[in-house]
Amino acid sequence: METLALDVYGTLIDPHAIAARLADHLGDGAAVFSQIWRGKQLEFSFRRGLMGDYADFSEVTREALDYTDSALEADLSEAAKADLLDRYTRLDAYADVPAALAALRAEGRALFAFSNGHPAALESLLQHAGIAHLLDGVVSVHEVRSFKPDPRVYAHFLQRANSRPEQTRLVSSNAFDILGAQACGWQTAWIRRDARTVFDGWGPEPETILASLAGLIE
Ligand code: LAC
Repeated sequence: METLALDVYGTLIDPHAIAARLADHLGDGAAVFSQIWRGKQLEFSFRRGLMGDYADFSEVTREALDYTDSALEADLSEAAKADLLDRYTRLDAYADVPAALAALRAEGRALFAFSNGHPAALESLLQHAGIAHLLDGVVSVHEVRSFKPDPRVYAHFLQRANSRPEQTRLVSSNAFDILGAQACGWQTAWIRRDARTVFDGWGPEPETILASLAGLIE
């Protein structure tokens, strides 16, 4: 039976509330701020992975927030930054997620959250979103002190989930994550929640492209 490794931020959990919160603080500047913050968050995680200088993902997120604030001269107060980072711990699941997870579970698939997030942060996030009970487990990169797409974190997932590459499918909205899993011989499904998103033009195209998790149900 297939094991699904479900990416968290942007795949199971909707980060939209953070953008809305940013708009409260920054008005029209929120969209550009949000894009640079997310880009730097990932860049810092990639670089820390390569440098062997691991830090908790919430720390990386804070560093990227500070960078973006300085670079754009947004001048967010410490209270505003704390508010934004706090929002990261209490986000909702995308609307399709609870029913899709329940159906996939009923089909006998093993379901694991698989994320750059710290285990404690993931635990409270998934509880808050009301989907923790639908998962067989949560696998965090923290256990190997590196970040996606380091091949070691995909190998670690297989060990934790007791699965093999050919029976494991990464489900993610992040193209870099899809490419990382494909390079390790996994099956993949790219969740394209926004039809305007383009896949990184590098490496093989994802085998499966879906608009939501519902498309995974047999
Ligand atoms: C995660 C990020 C990459 O949850 O979305 O791992």
